[in-house]
Amino acid sequence: MDRIIVRANGELNGSIPISGAKNAALPLMIASLLTSKKLVLENVPRLADVASLMRILSNHGTDHQIKGKQPGQSELSGQTIVFKAKNIVDTTAPYELVSKMRASFWVIGPLLARMGEARVSLPGGCAIGTRPVDLFIESLEALGAEISIENGYALAKAPEGLKGTTYRFPKVSVGATHVMMMAATLAKGTTVINNAAREPEVVNLAECLNAMGAKVSGQGTRTITIEGVKKLHGATHRVVADRIEAGTYAMAAAMAGGDVTLTDVESGLLKTTLDVLEQAGITIEKGENSIRIMRKGTPILPVKVSTEPHPGFPTDCQAQLMALMLKAEGISEITETIFENRFMHVSELARLGAKIALDGQKATITGVDSLAGAPVMATDLRASVSLVIAGLVASGETEIHRVYHLDRGFESLEEKLRNVGANIERVSE
Ligand code: EPZ
Repeated sequence: MDRIIVRANGELNGSIPISGAKNAALPLMIASLLTSKKLVLENVPRLADVASLMRILSNHGTDHQIKGKQPGQSELSGQTIVFKAKNIVDTTAPYELVSKMRASFWVIGPLLARMGEARVSLPGGCAIGTRPVDLFIESLEALGAEISIENGYALAKAPEGLKGTTYRFPKVSVGATHVMMMAATLAKGTTVINNAAREPEVVNLAECLNAMGAKVSGQGTRTITIEGVKKLHGATHRVVADRIEAGTYAMAAAMAGGDVTLTDVESGLLKTTLDVLEQAGITIEKGENSIRIMRKGTPILPVKVSTEPHPGFPTDCQAQLMALMLKAEGISEITETIFENRFMHVSELARLGAKIALDGQKATITGVDSLAGAPVMATDLRASVSLVIAGLVASGETEIHRVYHLDRGFESLEEKLRNVGANIERVSE
């Protein structure tokens, strides 16, 4: 297995292109199951999770064709992929595939809407929590589906098709909002989703569905309305920029100091993240489609933050912010309110000399003057990159094991950081 070695190398300077969002690409790819026509997705990131989902979709009968590099494109620019599910040949999503990438559970919505049935393995928990699917089941039953759980599979049926409904999520769920919205596009009548997720990736999916002939409105607010239609056609749609990747590199630049511009990303996608960085004493300049991050010798100031559903501070940037706070001048507090076990990076950061006290869902970080490199282990996708951020300023070498977690969500991470002056390399074990 590969490992990544990071050595402190002073400030970061230059520009980093931001890729298409993993958490938008996945639901957009799944939406291709809703039509027998071509769905062309642009700006798709080159990620392990995208590759895994392509395998799962082909299991259902989706063909995909990855367009070659177009003139003027660098290998860091997003890829264009054409998806076409002419016929659904199998409505089962097997355990061996779903257990590898939990978002593949989301195929249950389009399969049910298009085929009237779906047999999808329950995704099971993961490192950050049990990850139940009760909200998916409840919201699809509200659309008229009959769902039973047998031998670790969700068996869903809607022989007469789905019927529009009004449903209120008892808690905000990004995935369950995606799935209910997709299923409702082909239901008979109108569906109103209350307490819907407001993430930009939900907005990106709604806009893609509308390009395919659906009638979705209210995306980006807590109330989404979908008027069912008979069929959806093909479309061409661009994957929105990855606000989590952008927030991650913003924190890396803030940690090392310097002057880094993030390109191909609209700052409004990560407003709260940037507000928190400004509270931490970081200088932020918002361009048309770029964000400039600067810290020249000024201190990192402590902050007090709770993760919240969008537009609040994203849980997917919690570990990265914690890494930044390791060297703040003072005591910071980070409370994780979305997942029950998303502090696994704490023990790994402590190996680098971090001072972090945990009290349930609250982490208290006491800033230290210096960190010292050590071998550490990546435990989940976002925790792994917090180790890279800490390694940028730790003396000696920080050696990160199990980097396959990183490859799930960060495209060409070493190259993007090396291009702005980081000393980072990947070695194969
Ligand atoms: C999406 O996961 C993202 N994944 C996660 O990013 C992200 O952390 C999360 O949203 C929150 O923003 C993708 O988009 C592929 P949820 P999702 O349903 O949809 C509970 C990353 O690092 N819940 O919004 O699975 C759940 O346990 C990943 O890219 C239920 O109780 O998250 C959690 O506590 C990690 N029952 C809370 O809701 C359900 O049926 C929010 O989860 C569903 C969820």
